[in-house]
Amino acid sequence: MAVIVLTSASGSPGVTSTALGLTLSWPRPAVLVEADPTGGSGTLAGFFHGNVAHTGGLMDLALAHREDALSESLPTAMMPIPESTALLLPGVRSHQQARSLAILWSPLAEALVALERNGQDVIVDAGRLGLEGAPGPLLNKADLVLLTSRSTLPALSGARSWAQTLREDFDRVGSLPRLGIVLVGAGQPYSARDVRNVLGLPVMATLPWDPDAAAVFSVGARRPRKFDRGALVRALRSAAAALQAVVDRNRADLATATSVGRPA
Ligand SMILES: Nc1ncnc2c1ncn2[C@@H]1O[C@H](COP(=O)(O)OP(=O)(O)O)[C@@H](O)[C@H]1O
Ligand SMILES: [Mg+2]
Repeated sequence: MAVIVLTSASGSPGVTSTALGLTLSWPRPAVLVEADPTGGSGTLAGFFHGNVAHTGGLMDLALAHREDALSESLPTAMMPIPESTALLLPGVRSHQQARSLAILWSPLAEALVALERNGQDVIVDAGRLGLEGAPGPLLNKADLVLLTSRSTLPALSGARSWAQTLREDFDRVGSLPRLGIVLVGAGQPYSARDVRNVLGLPVMATLPWDPDAAAVFSVGARRPRKFDRGALVRALRSAAAALQAVVDRNRADLATATSVGRPA
């Protein structure tokens, strides 16, 4: 069980599509949290074609938090994603609303960790790094923070300084094992190994360049033939397994370190 945050440095590498794709390909029921401070709910507008009312979500939780009722309100703020076992916690409608979430991120991070302890995996779309209203506390509390990048030179050039900043921040608090890359379009042109060398972070999952399949997640396009057995969905399933393995390994390492540090 895990809380996994996806974020990006520049451009639009596919955070929203990948976060939704991972949530729907996850081997257990998972919750997708739209924490992108840009607002506009990419999933409701894209995957759902704007056909589903924007109810509940983070603004309701911000109000509930003011009344000290965050945990009780969390289940009702989430909506089911049809034809799946997944849930969606819709984000804000606008970037102005995101400012009022500043007080929510810390308690929400605690509430999501509690969900995770109860067997519910959580995938967070944190949008782009450095925006006003960004969900910093979710990054601090997550089991994994994944910088999403394409493998082109402009993408890597844009991601490089953010990768360094994240690396320094996580290293300072002994959290480097919680930080990695999701590579979208591996080999187009740079390989996972090139990307690891340039960004100085491990590539924890790779996804193929597959615009038709990705459009199912990003704009609710009609599913191409053999979508469920296609390259993107298969890679998303492998990514889910690989990410869970990293979380399990990190926890095992932490448990060993804690027991070694404990007096006999
Ligand atoms: N694996 C992929 N292969 C091809 N295109 C992709 C892939 N992932 C995402 N895309 C496309 O990239 C564009 C941006 O995706 P989106 O998820 O909205 O990015 P972000 O959230 O980073 O802004 C969309 O057109 C989407 O369909
Ligand atoms: Mg997005």
